[in-house]
Amino acid sequence: MEDSDAVPFELRVPTPDEFAAFSLPTWRAFSMPDPSEEGIEDNKFLWEPDRSIGAIEDGEWIGGAGAYTFDLTLPGGSTLPAAGVTMVGVSPTHRRRGVLNQLMERQLADVVDLGEPLAILTASESLIYGRFGYGLAVSHAVMEIDSTRSAFRAGAEPAPPGRLRLLAKPDAAGPLQAAYERCRLIRAGAITRRPEYWELHLRDRERWRDGASALYVAIHEDADGQPDGLVTWRQKESWTDAGLPRATVLVNDLCATTAEIEAVLWRLVLDVDLSTRVVAEKRPVDDPIKWRLLEPRRAQTNVVSDWLWLRVLDVPAALEGRGYQVSGQLVVEVEDRFRPSTSGRYLLDTDTKESSCSRTDAKPDLAMQIDDLGAIYLGGVAPSTLAAAGRIQARSAEVLARADDLFATSPAPFCMTGF
Ligand SMILES: CC(C)(COP(=O)(O)OP(=O)(O)OC[C@H]1O[C@@H](n2cnc3c(N)ncnc32)[C@H](O)[C@@H]1OP(=O)(O)O)[C@@H](O)C(=O)NCCC(=O)NCCS
Repeated sequence: MEDSDAVPFELRVPTPDEFAAFSLPTWRAFSMPDPSEEGIEDNKFLWEPDRSIGAIEDGEWIGGAGAYTFDLTLPGGSTLPAAGVTMVGVSPTHRRRGVLNQLMERQLADVVDLGEPLAILTASESLIYGRFGYGLAVSHAVMEIDSTRSAFRAGAEPAPPGRLRLLAKPDAAGPLQAAYERCRLIRAGAITRRPEYWELHLRDRERWRDGASALYVAIHEDADGQPDGLVTWRQKESWTDAGLPRATVLVNDLCATTAEIEAVLWRLVLDVDLSTRVVAEKRPVDDPIKWRLLEPRRAQTNVVSDWLWLRVLDVPAALEGRGYQVSGQLVVEVEDRFRPSTSGRYLLDTDTKESSCSRTDAKPDLAMQIDDLGAIYLGGVAPSTLAAAGRIQARSAEVLARADDLFATSPAPFCMTGF
C-alpha cells in the first residue's frame, strides 16, 4: 500500500499486457458494456502503460487513470509539454472512498517528476476536477448551419491558392498529419496528434458512426502541394415522405493554417449534395464562419460548454512559456490546496519577446486559487471575469485591467482533439 494507510487498496502501474483488466473499472464506471476484442485493441492502441496508475484491492483492479504525452500550443504559438489525463474511472462498487483522490495525488506527482509543467483533461462532469487544481481553460461551441441558406457575403468568398483533394482512407494518414502539424500551432489549446492517432481514427469502425456514413476525408493543399488544411465528416441520410433529401453533414475535424482556407473547407461541407444542415460538435467559440455568411442567423451556436481543463504544476515554467501581446509586471499570489508546495507569490514580467517569472516576497496585485490560474492561462476567460465571479481578488481596478491585457489571447483558445 502506498500514499495513505487510510484505505485498503494499493496503487500500481499496470504492465503492458494488463490493459484489459486495468481499464475494466473505467468502462464499468461509464456504464459501458465490457469491451470486445476489437474495442480493447482500439483503446489500447494509443495507451501509454507506464503513464498509467491503477488501484487494486484483493487482487482486482478497482480504478485507474492514464495520461498521454502531448505538446500544448500556447498563446503566441510556442508549446509546452502537457500530460493529457485520460481513462479516469473508479468501479461503481468502490466509489466515494477516496480512490480518485489518491490516483490524482499520485498522477500529478508523476507528471511533476517527468518535468511537465501542465496537465490537461476533458471532464465527464464539471464538479470533479476543480478540487485537484484544474480550471476551465477552453470552451467549445456546437455549430449548426442551415446549408440551404449558407451563401457567403459578396467579397467574402475565399480564393486562396491551392486545391482541395478528397482522400481515400488508406492514403490519408500522411497528408492529414502534415496538415494538422501546421494547423495546431495557430490556436492556443491545440495538442499534438501522434501519427498513430490517424491510424486509429481511420479505422473508422462501424460502432463509431451512430448510423451515419463512413468517414470522408479531404485536405487543402497550398500552391506547392503541401497540405495546409483538413476536414473530415460523415453524412447522416434522411428523406422526407415526399422524397426530398434532408441529410445532415456531421463535421469531425476542420482546421487550416488561415481562416480563408478554413472557409474553403466549410464551403465544401456546406455544399455536400442531398444535405440541408451541417453540424460541427467541436468548434472554437469565436469561429469566424458566421461572419462570412450572408445570413448570419443561419449559423447557430446552440451550445457553448466547457471542454479543456488545465492544471498548472510549475507556475514559472508555465507563465514564462506562453507569449504575451503587451509588456508589463504583475505579482500573482496563488493558493494550491491540493499541492501546497506550488502555493506562493510569483512575479511575472512580460515582454512581447521574452518573459520571466519567479517567486517573490512582493505585495500581490492579484490573489487566486491554482484552478483560477489554469482557467486564465490560455486566455479563454479574462481575470476580470473571474474577479466579477468572486474568484480572483485584485488590489485595484487598474491592476485587474493590466492582468486582462497581459493574459488576453486572440484567436480564442481551442482544442479540436478529444482524448
Ligand atoms: C468520478 C469518479 C472517478 C470519482 O471517483 P471516486 O473514487 O468516487 O472519488 P473520491 O472518492 O476520491 O472523491 C474525491 C472527491 O470528489 C468528489 N467527487 C468525486 N466524483 C464526483 C462526482 N462525479 N460528482 C460529485 N463529486 C464527486 C467526492 O465527493 C470527494 O469529495 P470530498 O473529498 O469532498 O469528499 C467516479 O465516480 C467515476 O468513475 N465516475 C464515472 C466515470 C467518470 O465520470 N470518470 C471521470 C472521467 S473524466
